[in-house]
Amino acid sequence: MLHVLDHPLIQSKLTLMRDVQTDNETFRRLLEELTALMVYEITRQYPLRDRPIETPLESMMGRVLDASIVLVPILRAGTGMLGGVLHLVPMAKVGHIGLFRDPETLDPVEYYCKLPPETPEAHIILVDPMLATGGSAIEATRIIKREGGKDIQFLCLVAAPEGIETYAAAHPDVPIYTAALDRQLNEKGYILPGLGDAGDRIFGT
Ligand code: PRP
Ligand code: URA
Repeated sequence: MLHVLDHPLIQSKLTLMRDVQTDNETFRRLLEELTALMVYEITRQYPLRDRPIETPLESMMGRVLDASIVLVPILRAGTGMLGGVLHLVPMAKVGHIGLFRDPETLDPVEYYCKLPPETPEAHIILVDPMLATGGSAIEATRIIKREGGKDIQFLCLVAAPEGIETYAAAHPDVPIYTAALDRQLNEKGYILPGLGDAGDRIFGT
């Protein structure tokens, strides 16, 4: 299922990120801020457990998050979203999946995978700024499921209709959260209007 997170703060930060005049440093900062806002939205349904505490005045039963969380960025661009999530859920474990798109075929090529042992029981947040053809996210989700992951949310910034369709067909059980659903892909697989090459804009390559 597709969820477009249209909170005004998310939308205005995304507009600044799309702007070609925005430099790498600002782009990185906005990506972290925007990711944190999105994580706030997508963790709404996470379970809580009671925890007795003493306030300065009396005893009370507080409530704390009762969820094992595994965050999985798709290398490279997904790592730009890491800080934004960890800022809000610092107890999360982090796995990494390395994929790049073959520039000719646009097919994803796996070059790295290391996921924490908690993966099978955890709430997994898979992050990558761009969902273009969908190939990378589909492959990363397949790898997580291969390692036992079941409860997965996919979080991106900008999605193309083509990517949404192929991802939903491949993994109908995984909800997709995006800040924007853009118009289309160009002939090189870039999202229009998009924000360009996310990895290049994060890392200045
Ligand atoms: C980009 C982006 C996604 C992928 C999306 O990564 O970060 O992972 O493309 O495209 P898709 O939906 O068509 O698979 P890229 O392969 O450019 O690698 P990078 O993150 O190392 O720059
Ligand atoms: N990857 C990107 O970084 N940008 C796009 O528009 C498509 C894929």
